[in-house]
Amino acid sequence: MERTFVMIKPDGVDRGLVGEIISRIENKGLKLLNLKLICASSDILENHYMEHRNKPFFQDLVDSMKDKSVLAMVVEGENSIKLMRIMVGDKDPLCAFPGTIRGDYAFETTRNLIHASDSLEAAEREIKIWFGDKL
Ligand code: CDP
Ligand code: MG
Repeated sequence: MERTFVMIKPDGVDRGLVGEIISRIENKGLKLLNLKLICASSDILENHYMEHRNKPFFQDLVDSMKDKSVLAMVVEGENSIKLMRIMVGDKDPLCAFPGTIRGDYAFETTRNLIHASDSLEAAEREIKIWFGDKL
């Protein structure tokens, strides 16, 4: 069974989309192994988004999320990484298809509601960042 890291970003929490997003994940047949609502520090966000540290949007992205509540989750299921990426949709709301979470609800690129790991290595790294070694 494959595990992936999924996070509902502060805009998703603020807009009251937690229930809707969790329903989609569960209805797909994926399992929530763990979840927690936590206040994201800039340290954890900078670590999480390390691969983007030299991009022009990096600081805005971290600033838009820091000290706000995010819902961090570990999701398990066959091909959960690929499945979650498909369900999440493109980061750009103008490219995200209807039927995807971003396609149905997001209207900005930086505040685009949700994150899901894009590879096995990323999933392992991100689960460790947000949940420690226990999972
Ligand atoms: O989240 P995803 O893996 O789909 O996209 P990414 O390319 O890894 O970018 C990470 C996050 O950075 C995106 O989800 C956006 O919130 C943000 N971003 C941004 O604000 N402006 C961009 N031009 C690209 C990404
Ligand atoms: Mg990414």
